Amino acid sequence: MARIGMFGAGYVGLVTGACFADLGHDVVIRDIIPERIEELRAGIVPIYEPGLDEVLERNKERLRFTLDVRDAVDGAEFLYVAVGTPPTESGDADLSAVWAVIDELPPDVPGRPVVVMKSTVPVGTGAHVRARLDARGLSNVGYVSNPEFLAEGSAVSDFGKPDRIVVGAFDPVDGERVVRLHDGIEGEIVRTDVFSAELVKLAANAFLSTRISFINEIANVCELVGADVVDVARGVGLDHRLGPHFLRAGIGFGGSCFPKDVSALKQLAGNEGYPFMLLHAVWEVNELQKRRVVQKLQKHLGSLRGRRVALLGLAFKPNTDDMREAPSRVIAHRLVAEGAEVRGWDPVAHPTDLTRIEICDSVIDAVRGADAAVIVTEWPELASLASAEVHEAMANPLIVDGRNLLDPAATQAAGFVYEGIGRPRHASPVRPPEPVS
Ligand SMILES: NC(=O)c1ccc[n+]([C@@H]2O[C@H](COP(=O)([O-])OP(=O)(O)OC[C@H]3O[C@@H](n4cnc5c(N)ncnc54)[C@H](O)[C@@H]3O)[C@@H](O)[C@H]2O)c1
Repeated sequence: MARIGMFGAGYVGLVTGACFADLGHDVVIRDIIPERIEELRAGIVPIYEPGLDEVLERNKERLRFTLDVRDAVDGAEFLYVAVGTPPTESGDADLSAVWAVIDELPPDVPGRPVVVMKSTVPVGTGAHVRARLDARGLSNVGYVSNPEFLAEGSAVSDFGKPDRIVVGAFDPVDGERVVRLHDGIEGEIVRTDVFSAELVKLAANAFLSTRISFINEIANVCELVGADVVDVARGVGLDHRLGPHFLRAGIGFGGSCFPKDVSALKQLAGNEGYPFMLLHAVWEVNELQKRRVVQKLQKHLGSLRGRRVALLGLAFKPNTDDMREAPSRVIAHRLVAEGAEVRGWDPVAHPTDLTRIEICDSVIDAVRGADAAVIVTEWPELASLASAEVHEAMANPLIVDGRNLLDPAATQAAGFVYEGIGRPRHASPVRPPEPVS
């Protein structure tokens, strides 16, 4: 079994570190936030990720948490980098945390530990890191790109059942060691050079984002021509050449990865003199899609000044508390700008920086006296939103279903005005009574 030093105790570092410990490896997780390390040492999990508590708990013996670089590096055969790479103002990836890790490595690291890059980085980063390690006299340290594909909300099971494990190495022996480290996990191994491994990650996220923007545009066309995007997506997705995934229309993608990676790939291409036009469109469609919620509300309510709107679900997707680039942020700010009074609810995300909206403890609190309720995140709890209790609580029973979670017919039958994304105008279940003959 190997000894792993993990840099970063966020969604990726914590899940990956805990799951490697579950495979029997010894893992030391290092972060720079003292409170985070204290919490982890005290058995408190600082993020919401289903199943993570249990994995951390049952591997207590094989997991340590530290602020000290030496603790993480000493004796480690693998030095995983799982720090954040958020977008800068130019849309490029901010690699300052990655460089901090590389520069913090002690100059006298013995043996041949391998730096394994889990963070999503621009193509070419591995080559720069390699050069920096060599310049620091750390030619004995290997480098492998091993991009992460886990999805928040299912990260623990994704680790155990990955679609693929991409390993890009300068030295095939280092690559082989990283492959062996995954013994016990079933998943196709894709061995590449470092540049290609880096691009696999960006291309995969860009393509998933493209599918979302594509189906959102189809939804917008559906609204104009009276088609139902749910049926259209099903009919399209059953084509085995296309498959059904990421063809769910809604109010756009968010999160810590898709927006940042689309932007990073777009900028990366642009920096090389190539305008990646498709990704410009993917980005623009997504921005407009979030704002369409406001238009839908205005269609029913006219001016939103003084109107009370409940935003239901704030996290960027269900089963996570991650608010990074969540569509709820843009929608909340747009609504406030239109003069609406916004109340938000989420079962796990409790953002403290959305200061201009009131965060409520329950769905009923959020919808009380509301002129409209908007489903922003498809939390399972919201599947029963069209209830008599909610109807009674709202000042005006309008539901804008930003994730097509509800059955339009049943929602309308329950007395609500329903507005989905790309659902047909004629989807009224309240059919006129049959003429009595
Ligand atoms: N979150 C995801 O779903 C996901 C999926 C695939 C890939 N990724 C990529 O993985 C990387 C990490 O993402 P995340 O969501 O886990 O980020 P995160 O922000 O949740 O966690 C990053 C952690 O790194 C810590 N850190 C910063 N500098 C450090 C240093 N010098 N030493 C040790 N720790 C340090 C931070 O304090 C933070 O706790 C990013 O590049 C991201 O694009 C994320």
